[in-house]
Amino acid sequence: MDRRTFLKSAVAGSVAAGFAGSAFAAGYYYPVQVDQSLFAGINRAKDPAHKSGLEKSHAPVLTAPAAVKAGEPFTVDVAVGETLHVMMTNHWIGFIELSIGNEPVGKVDLTPKGYLKPKVAFTVVIPKEAAPSGKVTLVAKQQCNLHGLWEGSLDIAVS
Ligand SMILES: [Fe+2]
Repeated sequence: MDRRTFLKSAVAGSVAAGFAGSAFAAGYYYPVQVDQSLFAGINRAKDPAHKSGLEKSHAPVLTAPAAVKAGEPFTVDVAVGETLHVMMTNHWIGFIELSIGNEPVGKVDLTPKGYLKPKVAFTVVIPKEAAPSGKVTLVAKQQCNLHGLWEGSLDIAVS
């Protein structure tokens, strides 16, 4: 093999290796086809009494006292799903957010490194002026990297 032929084959081999590396990287980071309709808006359980499998593992479930006193702290637990969602390197919950009505009050970012389950506890205090009708709606949202943004809610009385 002369020098010219050697250089040509070496360059062609490097280019081919580069393309193969890019294809491998794309396959590693995007291994799953997603349902794009889940990313078109906010997803909710259509019939909370009869959730589908996807809804059971994605619709946030809020747990809080049915009635609370204004100005006194209480705990709101938010779990991602009746059956807790997985936290794997290719499928995970990115954040869990709590709002009172349409006002965001807190957000927890999660990383898929195996330390966390997608369930958080918020300590909440509702001032009297935030509940003029004697009740509020607690709203939780969560983001799944493969299944989009999901919302769940719970009405509680405030006296
Ligand atoms: Fe998911």
